[in-house]
Amino acid sequence: MKKVRKAVFPVAGLGTRFLPATKAIPKEMLTVVDKPVIQYVVDEAREAGIEHFIFVTGRNKAVIEDYFDVQFELYDTLAQRGKDDQLAHLQRLQPAPGQTSFTRQQTPLGLGHAVWCARELVGDEPFALLLPDMIMQSETGCMKEMVELYERTGGNVIAVQECDPADAHKYGIVGKGETVHSGFEITAMVEKPKRGTEPSNHYINGRYILQPEIFSILEGQERGAGNEIQLTDAMLKLLKRQPFHGYHFQGRTFDCGSPEGFVEANIAFALWRSDMHERMVDLVDTLFADLTPAERGRKSR
Ligand code: G1P
Repeated sequence: MKKVRKAVFPVAGLGTRFLPATKAIPKEMLTVVDKPVIQYVVDEAREAGIEHFIFVTGRNKAVIEDYFDVQFELYDTLAQRGKDDQLAHLQRLQPAPGQTSFTRQQTPLGLGHAVWCARELVGDEPFALLLPDMIMQSETGCMKEMVELYERTGGNVIAVQECDPADAHKYGIVGKGETVHSGFEITAMVEKPKRGTEPSNHYINGRYILQPEIFSILEGQERGAGNEIQLTDAMLKLLKRQPFHGYHFQGRTFDCGSPEGFVEANIAFALWRSDMHERMVDLVDTLFADLTPAERGRKSR
């Protein structure tokens, strides 16, 4: 069985759910506490043993490439000022030379198309796919757990979580079969099912391990939900030829592509940090206690 060495990060999305913040800054560069969203996702991949990080970018995303580069002047200044801890922290987050690759999705044709754009960089080996909108909080990273399952099952692995059936139409949903090791057999998949037709309430949370055969399927994939080339539709075709296993992730997932999920992520990660925990608990308590009756009655518009 081939090891999962490479990870693909589709970062070409326009971030329209998050305007005006994303007018000039890619959504992946918005910060959760003090790190950009993309750093959380790269850290998760690295924890899982990934050695090469492939970014599928688009126009106005060059800052992501700069972010992962060495900033000589900054590093030098930190060294001269004796800020060794900060410098070491930055260097720990930094990918090694040659560990990153960047390619562009020239036209926004959907997630399936973005993944297909990485085909030459991935080559003929299994790869991890991490959707950077979704960041996770758990003691052990979601992708690390998935790699462990993959090493027992082979094939393809998709992480899932349970959602309110009323929300199933927003996601890719899988059908659940027999238990296999710490996961389960995936029997069906549907992208954005019509209300009431979902095969379960297990939604795809944005983490995948896929075999390279997905690329030849994506090559001819027609548009699906939302008139976009959907990865889920291509995976459904691959399911006829290869096993897919579900990994039921037990941690928290935040959709940082939406303002609500982004704010939730900031609160959750600040509470998670030992150096901020107490202050954040006090703040949340105080803010809530200080709400006036009029503010408490404020409903979403
Ligand atoms: C994509 C996938 C979907 C998955 C979701 C998770 O949808 O197509 O299967 O459930 O990510 O965030 P999108 O959010 O791009 O509509």
